Amino acid sequence: MKNKFNKNICCIGAGYVGGPTMCVIASNCPQLRVDVVDINDERIEAWNSNDLSKLPVFEPGLENIVRKCRGINLFFSNKIEECIAKADIIFISVNTPTKTKGIGAGFASDLKWIESSTRQIAKFAKDHTVVVEKSTLPVKTAETIKTILNSSLLNHGFNIKENNKTFSIVSNPEFLAEGTAINDLQHPDRVLIGGEDEESIELISNIYKCWIDSKKIITTNLWSSELSKLVANAFLAQRISSINSISALCEVTGADVKEVSKAVGTDSRIGNKFLNAGPGFGGSCFKKDILNLVYLCRFYGLNEVANYWENIVNINFWQQKRISKIVINNLFGTISEKRIAILGFSFKPNTNDTRESPSINISKDLLQEDAKLAFYDPRVNKNQIISEFQTNSNTFSFEVCESALEACRNSDAVIVLTEWEEFKFLDWRKIFEEMRKPAWVFDTRICLDNDALKDIGFKVWTLGSS
Ligand code: NAD
Ligand code: UGA
Repeated sequence: MKNKFNKNICCIGAGYVGGPTMCVIASNCPQLRVDVVDINDERIEAWNSNDLSKLPVFEPGLENIVRKCRGINLFFSNKIEECIAKADIIFISVNTPTKTKGIGAGFASDLKWIESSTRQIAKFAKDHTVVVEKSTLPVKTAETIKTILNSSLLNHGFNIKENNKTFSIVSNPEFLAEGTAINDLQHPDRVLIGGEDEESIELISNIYKCWIDSKKIITTNLWSSELSKLVANAFLAQRISSINSISALCEVTGADVKEVSKAVGTDSRIGNKFLNAGPGFGGSCFKKDILNLVYLCRFYGLNEVANYWENIVNINFWQQKRISKIVINNLFGTISEKRIAILGFSFKPNTNDTRESPSINISKDLLQEDAKLAFYDPRVNKNQIISEFQTNSNTFSFEVCESALEACRNSDAVIVLTEWEEFKFLDWRKIFEEMRKPAWVFDTRICLDNDALKDIGFKVWTLGSS
């Protein structure tokens, strides 16, 4: 025992996964001390903010846990070396984005943050440390982590056995979805733990058993665990691309994608989840994890398998392009100088995360056509929206508004791109009055009352129906 707690946990990476996951562990395991560390000082400062509305991640239920545990058994800091040194268990929860250059660019995961945190662990860990892969990783990454940990010991002139410094690697991928992270962590469908030695698997299982039924804990070998995470995301995204492809067919045949989705999803073998058609999946992971899977398949010479999965991403891109074209065509083929309100910028409701949000690509298409965009999102901050378009060398015309009404005022069209609950309850009559006519609503999330909008006088386009 290294202090008054049973065990010390260190989590490297205080992002969307590391932060909420460690909060839930700390909340359910008061016997454990949990230190969440990050190289990003600003992020750590935000996690330590007295004003809990300033936490860097917005998730329903998160504030309450931070209020309860922070400073008791949950700590956020940039003292990476110190926290690694005192940890019995280290979760690696750093970012693993798609490589932007070099071999595998556009497909493979960039593992440089994994490697740098592994090297820090190799250098500063003491005694026996269980290293847990929490980030989503290509299958076989544990091999790399193991090699770095062990060879780094040799680099420093140590003999592994004499020095008593040893490591075990466990894979424990995270399945939480943003916007429901706390609920997902508190009541997961399953917890997956892959490893090579029983003792480490049991150590990590015991953490989860503090609040999760042991029947929900699945143990596998390391490689099955790493691969299952990529496959789970690929299957989820596949369902979305499937229903989105059908949404286009519904629009030209008179079928209604909502009705089709219900009819298909009530077959218990298919199930009704993840069959909501929309402007394509966003978020930091689906696209990157599928592309990673594609890269792995090509690496192993499985080109047909790679092509199959790559098409899930292609359909997603096509769906976004398709929507941009539909907007332009309905506004008489030109949107130059026309004001268009974009309602919703996060990639889904109840999160402030905008990574890979369909709003970004669709907005870029419209800006390329010289439209004037007026954005409103209830949670995404202004600078975040601005930063998405400032990187482009073009001088785009757009503004970020404080309310939906302000965004819609004097606009020709409103495009709903994220299904925030509040959009259903806007004063659509007032919005209609303040728009230029004909006033269009493009409902890409099928979340508004189509008939009510038509009664007010709007021209309405709803995804997946004619
Ligand atoms: P994120 O970018 O929000 O957070 C990662 C954090 O790691 C950043 O704050 C970064 O500064 C920090 N970091 C990087 N290198 C570091 C180092 N050497 N030392 C200390 N800190 C370091 O990413 P995220 O969304 O939390 O995702 C993390 C991983 O979890 C990814 O592999 C992702 O695929 C996976 N995942 C994400 C989600 C999700 O919903 N976002 C869900 C399941 C799995
Ligand atoms: C997804 C998975 O659901 C998590 O299990 C996984 O842990 C996570 O990725 C990850 O590895 O990062 P997340 O991206 O947070 O979670 O959110 P989802 O609810 O899966 O939504 C992803 C995107 O798909 C959103 O843009 C959403 O609007 C879209 N979507 C989802 C649809 O268009 N239709 C649906 O029926 C469901």
